[in-house]
Amino acid sequence: MSTDTQVSNRWSSRYAYVLAATGAAVGLGNIWKFPYIMGENGGGAFVLVYLLCILLIGIPVMMAEVIIGKRGRSTPANAIAHVAAESGRSSHWSLIGTIGVIAGFLILSFYAVIAGWAAAYVFFSGSGEFSAAAADPATNADVIGALFTELITSVSQLMVWSTLTLIAAIYVISKGVKKGLETAITYLMPALLVLLVGIMFYSAVVGDFAAAFNFMFHVDFSQLTIEGALVALGHAFFTLSLAMGIMMTYGAYLPKGVSIVKTSITIAIADTIVALIAGLAIYPIVFANGLEPSAGPGLLFQSIPLAFGSMPYGDFVGTLFFIMIVFAAFTSVIALLESPTAYLVERQKMSRTKAAIVAGVGIWVLSLCSIYSFAGAEWTKLSFGMGGDIFEFLDYLTANILLPLGGIFISIFAGWVIKPNILQEELHLTGTPFVIILILLRFVAPIGILLVFANAIGLL
Ligand code: PHE
Repeated sequence: MSTDTQVSNRWSSRYAYVLAATGAAVGLGNIWKFPYIMGENGGGAFVLVYLLCILLIGIPVMMAEVIIGKRGRSTPANAIAHVAAESGRSSHWSLIGTIGVIAGFLILSFYAVIAGWAAAYVFFSGSGEFSAAAADPATNADVIGALFTELITSVSQLMVWSTLTLIAAIYVISKGVKKGLETAITYLMPALLVLLVGIMFYSAVVGDFAAAFNFMFHVDFSQLTIEGALVALGHAFFTLSLAMGIMMTYGAYLPKGVSIVKTSITIAIADTIVALIAGLAIYPIVFANGLEPSAGPGLLFQSIPLAFGSMPYGDFVGTLFFIMIVFAAFTSVIALLESPTAYLVERQKMSRTKAAIVAGVGIWVLSLCSIYSFAGAEWTKLSFGMGGDIFEFLDYLTANILLPLGGIFISIFAGWVIKPNILQEELHLTGTPFVIILILLRFVAPIGILLVFANAIGLL
């Protein structure tokens, strides 16, 4: 095994691990993506399916990934091979790790672009654009909308921001600055939460909170399509950073004696709470201003500035808010870059710095496809089923196909291939709780994913 350098790494404490894993989990998926896909898929029923997916599939798969990483004490493909060998099975299972690396690589190519939007918004807010727009309530929403359209159709602006994001990530990853990151996250995550809660209360006062609450929690199954259920399932993986080898990598650094069960549940709950609060912060403004819940990727960027613009000290708080989003996104960008980098180090025997640069440059080139998609370039338009342009295609391919597929294999691997006594040892569980997790991994997760997946892509 070629990953001995990694094996000696450990998080400094249980707290540091939970924080780092929460940092990887909480990101644009919670604050940007969850609210708009909920809007596109009808609200309450979608939220319910999403919560069930987190509980019944996401949490067990997360535990499985952490167990594999911790037991294998190396990067995903090797960890899987190691655990398979320990159970007397084929090392070909390590292919699961490869699917994950590809998914992470593709996701980062558009994730870095959206992180760039948030970075641009720090400056919009800081230069008073939102309050200037709010001076005339009659045109406020239109001006804010135009600001967004102008940004996403400006190839040069987007390129600058996503390039800066990737360079910063390459730097951090090549240095392996765990300490700096740990410290940064210690302050940033709580600050993000406080700000989000603050904005939620503010939008409850100035916006239409009742309509938002009703939209998110009134379950009306007639609003949900099978396609929507697949989106909810895929998002459960995306938001918890599953099926990309991330949790395996983080699990490999887990100190002895940390409970995998408790930490996984804590991370999942923290991630879900942030997503729900983001929804409750954004939707009151959406409804009060007559915006469309189905506005798509621009929802966050068109609703939140409306709230800040007319709020006392709004430019200042808005700047802070977008800085927080940039940081939440950045901790995820780093986690996403870690996976292809570790893969190149392991497989191609590259140095960490070289691997981070090679992966980063590849992702940068691919990010141009998403940038030009937002700008509406002709060559990015696609005519087959998985979305109208390359950005939508990459989003669909990763969240709705690669992540669920990875999830099926991970749960089958953990449920059927790894010896149950290994699971039991790592989970420190006996009796009914263990049986429940085993049933979730053996049956509920793979069958659930397969049913939703096969139905949505038209196989059933
Ligand atoms: N979970 C992150 C989010 O919700 C995205 C992510 C996926 C980050 C995979 C790291 C790895 O934004």
